[in-house]
Amino acid sequence: MQTLRVENLTKTYGEKTLFEDVNFIINEGDRIGLIGTNGSGKTTMLNALAGLDPADSGELIAPNDYTIGYLMQQPVLDEDKTIRQAIFDGAGPVFQTIRRYEEVLAKYSANPEDEKLQAQFDKLSREMDQEDAWNVESNIATILSQLHVNDMDQQIGILSGGQKKRVGMAQVLIQAPDLLILDEPTNHLDFDSIKWLEEYLQSYKGALLVVTHDRYFLDQVATQIFELSFGKLYAYTGNYEDFVQQKAERVEREITAEHKQNQLYKKELAWMRTGAKARSTKQQARINRFNDLKENLHTLQVDGKVDINLGQQRLGKKVLEFQDATLTLGDHPIIKNFNLLVQGGQRIGITGVNGAGKSSFLNALAGEIKLDSGLRIQGETVRLGYYRQQTEEIPEDKRVIAT
Ligand SMILES: Nc1ncnc2c1ncn2[C@@H]1O[C@H](COP(=O)(O)OP(=O)(O)OP(=O)(O)O)[C@@H](O)[C@H]1O
Ligand SMILES: [Mg+2]
Repeated sequence: MQTLRVENLTKTYGEKTLFEDVNFIINEGDRIGLIGTNGSGKTTMLNALAGLDPADSGELIAPNDYTIGYLMQQPVLDEDKTIRQAIFDGAGPVFQTIRRYEEVLAKYSANPEDEKLQAQFDKLSREMDQEDAWNVESNIATILSQLHVNDMDQQIGILSGGQKKRVGMAQVLIQAPDLLILDEPTNHLDFDSIKWLEEYLQSYKGALLVVTHDRYFLDQVATQIFELSFGKLYAYTGNYEDFVQQKAERVEREITAEHKQNQLYKKELAWMRTGAKARSTKQQARINRFNDLKENLHTLQVDGKVDINLGQQRLGKKVLEFQDATLTLGDHPIIKNFNLLVQGGQRIGITGVNGAGKSSFLNALAGEIKLDSGLRIQGETVRLGYYRQQTEEIPEDKRVIAT
Protein backbone atom coordinates (compact mmCIF):
# COMPACT_ATOMS: atom_id res chain seq x y z
CA MET A 1 0.00 0.00 0.00
CA GLN A 2 1.28 3.48 -0.86
CA THR A 3 1.36 5.34 2.43
CA LEU A 4 2.75 8.71 3.45
CA ARG A 5 3.86 9.02 7.07
CA VAL A 6 4.42 12.44 8.52
CA GLU A 7 6.44 12.61 11.71
CA ASN A 8 7.03 15.52 14.08
CA LEU A 9 6.47 18.19 11.47
CA THR A 10 7.22 21.65 12.86
CA LYS A 11 7.18 25.09 11.24
CA THR A 12 7.70 28.51 12.76
CA TYR A 13 7.67 31.97 11.21
CA GLY A 14 9.40 34.37 13.56
CA GLU A 15 7.49 34.24 16.83
CA LYS A 16 4.58 32.33 15.39
CA THR A 17 4.54 28.54 15.59
CA LEU A 18 2.18 27.35 12.88
CA PHE A 19 2.45 23.67 13.77
CA GLU A 20 4.56 21.71 16.17
CA ASP A 21 5.39 17.99 16.27
CA VAL A 22 2.47 17.09 14.06
CA ASN A 23 2.08 13.40 13.20
CA PHE A 24 -0.28 11.69 10.80
CA ILE A 25 -0.55 8.98 8.19
CA ILE A 26 -2.22 9.24 4.80
CA ASN A 27 -3.26 5.88 3.39
CA GLU A 28 -4.19 4.99 -0.17
CA GLY A 29 -7.73 6.13 -0.93
CA ASP A 30 -8.00 8.40 2.13
CA ARG A 31 -10.26 11.43 1.76
CA ILE A 32 -9.12 14.13 4.12
CA GLY A 33 -10.40 17.67 4.53
CA LEU A 34 -7.90 20.00 6.21
CA ILE A 35 -9.62 22.89 7.91
CA GLY A 36 -8.66 25.74 10.22
CA THR A 37 -9.26 29.48 10.63
CA ASN A 38 -7.65 31.94 8.20
CA GLY A 39 -3.94 32.18 8.83
CA SER A 40 -3.75 29.04 10.96
CA GLY A 41 -1.10 27.59 8.64
CA LYS A 42 -2.97 25.24 6.29
CA THR A 43 -1.24 26.44 3.12
CA THR A 44 2.10 26.40 4.92
CA MET A 45 1.52 22.76 5.85
CA LEU A 46 0.61 21.84 2.27
CA ASN A 47 3.74 23.63 1.01
CA ALA A 48 5.78 21.52 3.42
CA LEU A 49 4.13 18.25 2.32
CA ALA A 50 4.63 19.07 -1.35
CA GLY A 51 8.27 20.00 -0.71
CA LEU A 52 7.80 23.58 -1.92
CA ASP A 53 8.80 25.21 1.34
CA PRO A 54 10.26 22.63 3.70
CA ALA A 55 9.27 22.47 7.36
CA ASP A 56 11.82 23.44 10.05
CA SER A 57 11.97 19.86 11.25
CA GLY A 58 10.19 16.56 10.90
CA GLU A 59 10.11 13.78 8.37
CA LEU A 60 8.03 12.71 5.41
CA ILE A 61 8.30 8.98 4.88
CA ALA A 62 7.00 7.50 1.63
CA PRO A 63 8.05 4.95 -1.00
CA ASN A 64 10.54 6.23 -3.59
CA ASP A 65 8.01 6.25 -6.39
CA TYR A 66 5.32 8.03 -4.32
CA THR A 67 3.94 10.97 -6.29
CA ILE A 68 2.30 14.11 -4.93
CA GLY A 69 0.31 16.55 -7.07
CA TYR A 70 -0.38 19.99 -5.63
CA LEU A 71 -2.89 22.62 -6.69
CA MET A 72 -1.75 25.79 -4.95
CA GLN A 73 -4.14 28.36 -3.54
CA GLN A 74 -2.74 30.69 -6.20
CA PRO A 75 -1.00 28.60 -8.87
CA VAL A 76 2.20 30.07 -10.26
CA LEU A 77 2.20 29.82 -14.06
CA ASP A 78 4.39 31.42 -16.70
CA GLU A 79 2.45 34.47 -17.93
CA ASP A 80 4.07 34.41 -21.38
CA LYS A 81 2.94 30.88 -22.21
CA THR A 82 -0.30 29.62 -23.63
CA ILE A 83 -2.53 27.38 -21.52
CA ARG A 84 -1.33 24.34 -23.48
CA GLN A 85 2.35 25.23 -23.02
CA ALA A 86 1.90 26.03 -19.32
CA ILE A 87 0.22 22.69 -18.64
CA PHE A 88 2.78 20.65 -20.56
CA ASP A 89 5.48 22.56 -18.68
CA GLY A 90 4.35 20.80 -15.48
CA ALA A 91 6.81 18.93 -13.29
CA GLY A 92 4.71 15.74 -13.23
CA PRO A 93 6.36 12.53 -14.54
CA VAL A 94 3.99 12.25 -17.50
CA PHE A 95 4.97 15.73 -18.73
CA GLN A 96 8.63 14.87 -18.33
CA THR A 97 8.14 11.76 -20.44
CA ILE A 98 6.35 13.74 -23.14
CA ARG A 99 9.09 16.36 -23.22
CA ARG A 100 11.80 13.70 -23.50
CA TYR A 101 9.83 11.90 -26.20
CA GLU A 102 9.45 15.07 -28.25
CA GLU A 103 13.11 15.90 -27.89
CA VAL A 104 14.27 12.48 -29.08
CA LEU A 105 11.65 12.43 -31.81
CA ALA A 106 13.07 15.68 -33.23
CA LYS A 107 16.63 14.33 -33.19
CA TYR A 108 15.61 10.96 -34.59
CA SER A 109 13.64 12.52 -37.45
CA ALA A 110 16.72 14.52 -38.40
CA ASN A 111 18.96 11.39 -38.27
CA PRO A 112 16.79 8.37 -39.09
CA GLU A 113 19.91 6.25 -39.69
CA ASP A 114 21.26 6.65 -36.16
CA GLU A 115 20.74 3.36 -34.31
CA LYS A 116 21.36 4.80 -30.87
CA LEU A 117 18.64 7.38 -31.41
CA GLN A 118 16.33 4.72 -32.69
CA ALA A 119 16.82 2.67 -29.52
CA GLN A 120 16.10 5.75 -27.38
CA PHE A 121 13.06 6.51 -29.44
CA ASP A 122 11.69 2.95 -29.03
CA LYS A 123 12.26 3.08 -25.28
CA LEU A 124 10.46 6.40 -24.91
CA SER A 125 7.57 5.21 -27.09
CA ARG A 126 7.12 2.32 -24.65
CA GLU A 127 7.18 4.74 -21.70
CA MET A 128 4.56 6.85 -23.47
CA ASP A 129 2.42 3.69 -23.72
CA GLN A 130 2.92 2.80 -20.07
CA GLU A 131 1.98 6.23 -18.81
CA ASP A 132 -0.95 6.61 -21.18
CA ALA A 133 0.79 9.79 -22.30
CA TRP A 134 -0.66 9.74 -25.85
CA ASN A 135 -4.06 10.62 -24.44
CA VAL A 136 -2.88 13.37 -22.14
CA GLU A 137 -3.74 16.20 -24.48
CA SER A 138 -7.29 15.03 -25.13
CA ASN A 139 -7.80 14.20 -21.43
CA ILE A 140 -6.65 17.70 -20.52
CA ALA A 141 -9.04 19.18 -23.05
CA THR A 142 -11.87 17.16 -21.49
CA ILE A 143 -11.03 18.32 -17.98
CA LEU A 144 -10.67 21.95 -19.09
CA SER A 145 -13.97 21.91 -20.93
CA GLN A 146 -15.66 20.63 -17.74
CA LEU A 147 -14.10 23.61 -16.04
CA HIS A 148 -15.32 25.89 -18.87
CA VAL A 149 -11.90 26.67 -20.31
CA ASN A 150 -12.30 26.04 -24.01
CA ASP A 151 -9.37 27.70 -25.73
CA MET A 152 -6.02 26.13 -24.90
CA ASP A 153 -4.18 28.66 -27.04
CA GLN A 154 -5.05 31.60 -24.82
CA GLN A 155 -2.15 33.27 -23.10
CA ILE A 156 -1.84 32.80 -19.32
CA GLY A 157 -1.10 36.51 -18.84
CA ILE A 158 -4.62 37.55 -19.85
CA LEU A 159 -6.44 34.98 -17.70
CA SER A 160 -8.34 35.86 -14.53
CA GLY A 161 -7.26 34.41 -11.18
CA GLY A 162 -10.11 31.91 -11.42
CA GLN A 163 -9.10 30.76 -14.89
CA LYS A 164 -5.50 30.30 -13.79
CA LYS A 165 -6.74 28.17 -10.95
CA ARG A 166 -8.61 25.95 -13.44
CA VAL A 167 -5.49 25.57 -15.55
CA GLY A 168 -3.55 24.59 -12.42
CA MET A 169 -6.29 22.12 -11.59
CA ALA A 170 -6.18 20.44 -15.01
CA GLN A 171 -2.41 20.15 -14.70
CA VAL A 172 -2.59 18.39 -11.36
CA LEU A 173 -5.63 16.18 -12.03
CA ILE A 174 -4.16 14.79 -15.23
CA GLN A 175 -1.12 13.47 -13.36
CA ALA A 176 -3.28 11.23 -11.15
CA PRO A 177 -0.72 11.30 -8.31
CA ASP A 178 -0.73 8.95 -5.29
CA LEU A 179 -1.60 11.98 -3.17
CA LEU A 180 -3.64 14.79 -4.62
CA ILE A 181 -3.38 18.01 -2.61
CA LEU A 182 -5.85 20.78 -3.39
CA ASP A 183 -5.82 24.20 -1.70
CA GLU A 184 -9.25 25.84 -1.92
CA PRO A 185 -10.23 24.19 -5.23
CA THR A 186 -13.80 25.49 -5.34
CA ASN A 187 -13.07 29.16 -4.70
CA HIS A 188 -13.51 30.31 -8.27
CA LEU A 189 -15.68 27.53 -9.66
CA ASP A 190 -19.30 27.83 -10.68
CA PHE A 191 -21.95 25.40 -9.52
CA ASP A 192 -21.63 22.99 -12.50
CA SER A 193 -17.86 22.78 -12.24
CA ILE A 194 -18.01 22.12 -8.50
CA LYS A 195 -20.49 19.28 -9.08
CA TRP A 196 -18.21 17.85 -11.75
CA LEU A 197 -15.16 18.11 -9.47
CA GLU A 198 -17.01 16.40 -6.62
CA GLU A 199 -17.80 13.44 -8.85
CA TYR A 200 -14.30 13.33 -10.26
CA LEU A 201 -12.83 13.23 -6.76
CA GLN A 202 -15.30 10.62 -5.53
CA SER A 203 -14.01 8.16 -8.09
CA TYR A 204 -10.37 9.22 -7.69
CA LYS A 205 -8.17 6.24 -6.83
CA GLY A 206 -5.34 7.96 -4.97
CA ALA A 207 -5.50 9.75 -1.64
CA LEU A 208 -6.94 13.23 -1.36
CA LEU A 209 -5.99 16.06 0.99
CA VAL A 210 -8.08 19.15 0.43
CA VAL A 211 -8.24 22.53 2.13
CA THR A 212 -11.61 24.19 1.80
CA HIS A 213 -13.87 26.65 3.55
CA ASP A 214 -16.83 25.22 1.64
CA ARG A 215 -18.63 22.83 3.97
CA TYR A 216 -20.96 21.44 1.31
CA PHE A 217 -18.03 20.49 -0.88
CA LEU A 218 -16.27 19.05 2.18
CA ASP A 219 -19.25 16.82 2.94
CA GLN A 220 -19.22 15.51 -0.63
CA VAL A 221 -15.54 14.65 -0.88
CA ALA A 222 -14.13 14.06 2.63
CA THR A 223 -14.60 11.19 5.07
CA GLN A 224 -12.00 12.42 7.56
CA ILE A 225 -11.26 15.87 8.85
CA PHE A 226 -7.95 17.26 10.07
CA GLU A 227 -8.24 20.46 12.02
CA LEU A 228 -5.23 22.72 12.43
CA SER A 229 -5.73 24.77 15.56
CA PHE A 230 -3.08 26.70 17.50
CA GLY A 231 -0.23 24.60 16.21
CA LYS A 232 -1.84 21.22 16.81
CA LEU A 233 -3.52 18.90 14.37
CA TYR A 234 -6.67 17.10 15.46
CA ALA A 235 -8.05 14.21 13.40
CA TYR A 236 -11.76 13.39 13.23
CA THR A 237 -13.64 10.71 11.37
CA GLY A 238 -16.80 11.66 9.55
CA ASN A 239 -18.19 14.69 7.81
CA TYR A 240 -18.39 18.32 8.84
CA GLU A 241 -21.34 17.83 11.16
CA ASP A 242 -19.57 14.98 12.96
CA PHE A 243 -16.56 17.24 13.25
CA VAL A 244 -18.56 20.08 14.82
CA GLN A 245 -19.97 17.71 17.41
CA GLN A 246 -16.69 15.95 18.20
CA LYS A 247 -14.91 19.26 18.44
CA ALA A 248 -17.48 20.67 20.87
CA GLU A 249 -16.93 17.58 23.02
CA ARG A 250 -13.17 17.99 22.86
CA VAL A 251 -13.33 21.68 23.83
CA GLU A 252 -15.73 20.88 26.67
CA ARG A 253 -13.35 18.22 28.00
CA GLU A 254 -10.48 20.67 27.82
CA ILE A 255 -12.47 23.35 29.64
CA THR A 256 -13.42 20.91 32.41
CA ALA A 257 -9.83 19.75 32.75
CA GLU A 258 -8.61 23.30 32.91
CA HIS A 259 -11.21 24.26 35.46
CA LYS A 260 -10.14 21.37 37.68
CA GLN A 261 -6.53 22.36 37.33
CA ASN A 262 -7.31 25.96 38.29
CA GLN A 263 -9.24 24.82 41.36
CA LEU A 264 -6.34 22.65 42.45
CA TYR A 265 -3.91 25.50 41.85
CA LYS A 266 -5.96 27.86 44.02
CA LYS A 267 -6.09 25.30 46.82
CA GLU A 268 -2.38 24.61 46.72
CA LEU A 269 -1.57 28.31 46.45
CA ALA A 270 -3.50 28.91 49.65
CA TRP A 271 -1.49 26.14 51.30
CA MET A 272 1.80 27.60 50.05
CA ARG A 273 0.82 30.99 51.45
CA THR A 274 0.38 29.56 54.92
CA GLY A 275 4.16 29.26 54.79
CA ALA A 276 4.59 25.68 53.61
CA LYS A 277 7.99 24.28 54.52
CA ALA A 278 9.68 21.20 53.14
CA ARG A 279 10.10 19.45 56.47
CA SER A 280 9.24 16.01 55.13
CA THR A 281 9.65 14.34 51.76
CA LYS A 282 5.88 14.35 51.49
CA GLN A 283 5.76 18.11 51.90
CA GLN A 284 8.64 18.55 49.47
CA ALA A 285 6.74 16.46 46.92
CA ARG A 286 3.70 18.66 47.42
CA ILE A 287 5.77 21.80 46.88
CA ASN A 288 7.29 20.30 43.72
CA ARG A 289 3.84 19.44 42.46
CA PHE A 290 2.72 23.01 43.09
CA ASN A 291 5.65 24.35 41.09
CA ASP A 292 4.85 22.02 38.20
CA LEU A 293 1.25 23.09 38.32
CA LYS A 294 2.21 26.75 38.24
CA GLU A 295 4.50 26.21 35.29
CA ASN A 296 1.95 24.28 33.29
CA LEU A 297 -0.95 26.55 34.02
CA HIS A 298 -2.12 27.74 30.66
CA THR A 299 -5.05 29.52 29.23
CA LEU A 300 -7.09 27.43 26.90
CA GLN A 301 -7.12 28.68 23.34
CA VAL A 302 -10.33 28.30 21.42
CA ASP A 303 -10.58 29.59 17.88
CA GLY A 304 -13.04 32.33 17.17
CA LYS A 305 -15.49 32.41 14.30
CA VAL A 306 -14.81 34.69 11.39
CA ASP A 307 -17.46 37.35 11.59
CA ILE A 308 -18.31 39.51 8.65
CA ASN A 309 -19.86 42.58 10.12
CA LEU A 310 -21.88 44.48 7.62
CA GLY A 311 -22.55 47.45 9.90
CA GLN A 312 -26.25 46.83 10.41
CA GLN A 313 -28.72 49.61 10.90
CA ARG A 314 -32.41 49.58 11.62
CA LEU A 315 -34.05 48.27 8.47
CA GLY A 316 -37.29 49.38 6.97
CA LYS A 317 -39.35 46.72 5.27
CA LYS A 318 -38.01 47.39 1.83
CA VAL A 319 -34.31 46.92 1.27
CA LEU A 320 -33.92 47.09 -2.49
CA GLU A 321 -36.23 47.03 -5.46
CA PHE A 322 -35.90 46.72 -9.21
CA GLN A 323 -38.90 47.75 -11.29
CA ASP A 324 -38.88 46.73 -14.96
CA ALA A 325 -35.13 46.87 -14.89
CA THR A 326 -33.26 46.40 -18.17
CA LEU A 327 -29.50 46.34 -18.60
CA THR A 328 -27.39 45.41 -21.61
CA LEU A 329 -23.60 45.55 -21.57
CA GLY A 330 -22.07 45.60 -25.05
CA ASP A 331 -24.36 43.18 -26.87
CA HIS A 332 -24.81 41.03 -23.79
CA PRO A 333 -28.26 41.31 -22.18
CA ILE A 334 -27.91 41.07 -18.38
CA ILE A 335 -31.56 41.62 -17.34
CA LYS A 336 -34.67 42.51 -19.24
CA ASN A 337 -37.84 44.00 -17.70
CA PHE A 338 -36.81 42.44 -14.44
CA ASN A 339 -38.72 42.93 -11.19
CA LEU A 340 -37.32 42.13 -7.77
CA LEU A 341 -38.23 43.15 -4.26
CA VAL A 342 -35.64 42.37 -1.61
CA GLN A 343 -36.98 42.50 1.93
CA GLY A 344 -35.28 42.51 5.32
CA GLY A 345 -34.00 39.12 6.49
CA GLN A 346 -34.06 37.50 3.06
CA ARG A 347 -31.14 35.39 1.92
CA ILE A 348 -30.85 35.16 -1.85
CA GLY A 349 -28.42 33.01 -3.79
CA ILE A 350 -27.63 33.73 -7.43
CA THR A 351 -26.42 31.04 -9.81
CA GLY A 352 -25.62 31.09 -13.49
CA VAL A 353 -22.96 29.84 -15.88
CA ASN A 354 -19.67 31.71 -16.22
CA GLY A 355 -20.18 34.91 -18.12
CA ALA A 356 -23.97 34.98 -17.60
CA GLY A 357 -23.58 38.37 -15.95
CA LYS A 358 -23.84 37.63 -12.23
CA SER A 359 -21.23 40.20 -11.23
CA SER A 360 -22.74 42.81 -13.53
CA PHE A 361 -26.13 42.08 -12.01
CA LEU A 362 -24.71 42.65 -8.53
CA ASN A 363 -23.04 45.86 -9.71
CA ALA A 364 -26.42 47.07 -10.95
CA LEU A 365 -28.06 46.00 -7.70
CA ALA A 366 -25.42 47.88 -5.73
CA GLY A 367 -26.11 50.94 -7.88
CA GLU A 368 -22.64 50.99 -9.39
CA ILE A 369 -23.88 50.57 -12.94
CA LYS A 370 -26.86 52.57 -14.18
CA LEU A 371 -29.80 50.66 -15.62
CA ASP A 372 -30.68 51.26 -19.27
CA SER A 373 -34.30 51.57 -18.25
CA GLY A 374 -36.50 50.82 -15.24
CA LEU A 375 -36.03 51.80 -11.62
CA ARG A 376 -33.70 50.91 -8.81
CA ILE A 377 -35.10 51.88 -5.42
CA GLN A 378 -33.09 51.61 -2.23
CA GLY A 379 -34.73 51.77 1.23
CA GLU A 380 -33.91 54.96 3.12
CA THR A 381 -32.01 53.46 6.01
CA VAL A 382 -30.28 50.82 3.91
CA ARG A 383 -26.51 50.70 3.85
CA LEU A 384 -24.90 48.25 1.46
CA GLY A 385 -21.89 46.08 2.11
CA TYR A 386 -20.53 44.69 -1.15
CA TYR A 387 -17.85 42.02 -1.20
CA ARG A 388 -16.69 41.85 -4.80
CA GLN A 389 -15.35 38.88 -6.74
CA GLN A 390 -12.22 40.89 -7.48
CA THR A 391 -11.39 42.99 -4.45
CA GLU A 392 -10.27 46.52 -5.15
CA GLU A 393 -6.52 47.03 -5.21
CA ILE A 394 -5.23 46.76 -1.67
CA PRO A 395 -1.89 48.54 -1.31
CA GLU A 396 0.70 45.87 -0.42
CA ASP A 397 2.88 48.27 1.56
CA LYS A 398 0.20 49.42 4.00
CA ARG A 399 -0.55 47.83 7.34
CA VAL A 400 -3.91 46.01 7.52
CA ILE A 401 -5.40 48.60 9.88
CA ALA A 402 -4.58 51.50 7.53
CA THR A 403 -6.51 50.08 4.59
N1 LIG B 1 6.87 33.22 3.99
C1 LIG B 1 6.30 33.65 5.13
N2 LIG B 1 6.94 34.43 6.00
C2 LIG B 1 6.39 34.85 7.15
N3 LIG B 1 5.15 34.53 7.54
C3 LIG B 1 4.43 33.76 6.72
C4 LIG B 1 4.95 33.27 5.47
N4 LIG B 1 4.01 32.52 4.87
C5 LIG B 1 2.93 32.54 5.68
N5 LIG B 1 3.18 33.27 6.80
C6 LIG B 1 2.27 33.50 7.92
O1 LIG B 1 1.86 32.25 8.41
C7 LIG B 1 0.49 32.27 8.78
C8 LIG B 1 -0.24 31.14 8.10
O2 LIG B 1 -0.33 31.36 6.72
P1 LIG B 1 -1.05 30.32 5.76
O3 LIG B 1 -1.08 30.93 4.42
O4 LIG B 1 -0.38 29.00 5.88
O5 LIG B 1 -2.50 30.23 6.41
P2 LIG B 1 -3.83 29.47 5.89
O6 LIG B 1 -4.30 28.62 7.03
O7 LIG B 1 -3.57 28.80 4.61
O8 LIG B 1 -4.84 30.68 5.72
P3 LIG B 1 -6.06 30.90 4.63
O9 LIG B 1 -7.23 30.14 5.16
O10 LIG B 1 -6.27 32.37 4.71
O11 LIG B 1 -5.57 30.45 3.30
C9 LIG B 1 -0.03 33.65 8.42
O12 LIG B 1 -0.06 34.42 9.60
C10 LIG B 1 1.00 34.19 7.46
O13 LIG B 1 1.11 35.59 7.58
MG1 LIG C 1 -4.28 29.09 2.68
